[in-house]
Amino acid sequence: MKLFLILSLIGLATAVLQIGITKVASRRTKLIQSGLWPTYFKYKQALRLQSKAVVGQPVNDYDDAEYLGNITIGTPGQQFSVVLDTGSANLWVGDKSCATCAGKNTFDQTKSSTYQADGRSWSIQYGTGAAQGFLGIDTVAFGEMGANQLVVPKTTFGQATSIDMDLQQDVADGILGLAFQSLAVDNVVPPLVNAINQNLLDNPYFTIYLQEKGAVENVPGGTFTYGGFDTQNCGALIAWQPLSSATYFQFRMNGISVGSYSNSKGYEVISDSGTSLIAGPSSVLDKMANVVGATYDSGSGLYFIDCNATPPPVKINIGGNTYTITEKQLIIDAGNGQCIWGLEPFDNNGFGPAWILGDPFIRQYCNTYDLVGKRIGFSPAIGT
Ligand SMILES: *[C@@H]1O[C@H](CO)[C@@H](O)[C@H](O)[C@H]1NC(C)=O
Repeated sequence: MKLFLILSLIGLATAVLQIGITKVASRRTKLIQSGLWPTYFKYKQALRLQSKAVVGQPVNDYDDAEYLGNITIGTPGQQFSVVLDTGSANLWVGDKSCATCAGKNTFDQTKSSTYQADGRSWSIQYGTGAAQGFLGIDTVAFGEMGANQLVVPKTTFGQATSIDMDLQQDVADGILGLAFQSLAVDNVVPPLVNAINQNLLDNPYFTIYLQEKGAVENVPGGTFTYGGFDTQNCGALIAWQPLSSATYFQFRMNGISVGSYSNSKGYEVISDSGTSLIAGPSSVLDKMANVVGATYDSGSGLYFIDCNATPPPVKINIGGNTYTITEKQLIIDAGNGQCIWGLEPFDNNGFGPAWILGDPFIRQYCNTYDLVGKRIGFSPAIGT
């Protein structure tokens, strides 16, 4: 019986293959007969040249608090180390004229053959820090110089002429926002949206995989995959969750619990690679901190926890699925034998999302951000 089955399958496969060949041949014959073949051939060639892609970009980890990737701007490329931030939508780096950008790589437009002026000014206020300057247009490439880059021509970006103290003290040269255009200052088309508009990617989504490395700086710590899933570092997709607002990557969280504490009030939340911790209402966090034995320090605005504690995991319900975040992601080594708890108070006073699911959540679950489907996908992070 078995043998018969195999033979019959082979027979079937051959038949399908033959039908395929015949079809192609007749189509070509028809095109040649009608004189359209040369045009058709050119069209096929053009399609082949316009190769779409899935591009992976490594990022480096700074104390599990910040993840930086390299990009280049201009021709030839000038390289910058930037925060790849799903919680904002503008790209900026320091301009050569920026007096407050000491110690950072800055952009020199006179050295780029592809640079175009824009004329508009911009100013951005982040959760920590502010920056301002003018806009320019040039080729922006995701990834390091010499690596397999995602090259996006004619991208509008900010050239900062001044940045404030918080950003001066940060290790990054600038910030690359990955959220929706509707969130962008000056309604500038964000670099990745520009790549999608130019049909440069296989799929209009990207996947973030982040690693936990402890109190170390500038070590390999994850991958951003533009145009697809990260099949190397992420397991099978658990679910897509539709976005409730396509500005940030904002969606509904049904509930959050830890040990004996359970909250099923339901909240608007965002997934933000540019936020180091999970941030939420202080009234809720105080109760959760009580369960895990974390103590609030008003000086730093953070909760501290015993580095050897073994608290129950934090469980988050999104779309009926439970996402479990373990102590590995939530007890963060701050050096000097001190550890920070992975949740921090954030009170939005009723405006915008109530919670920010930052890096501890993304380290536990790869997040896939769909800019066209307006949804977010989660899969277990399985890389090491
Ligand atoms: C980015 O470039 C800097 C400077 O060349 C380098 O130290 C760093 O390792 C690079 N980062 C990544 C993620 O490759």
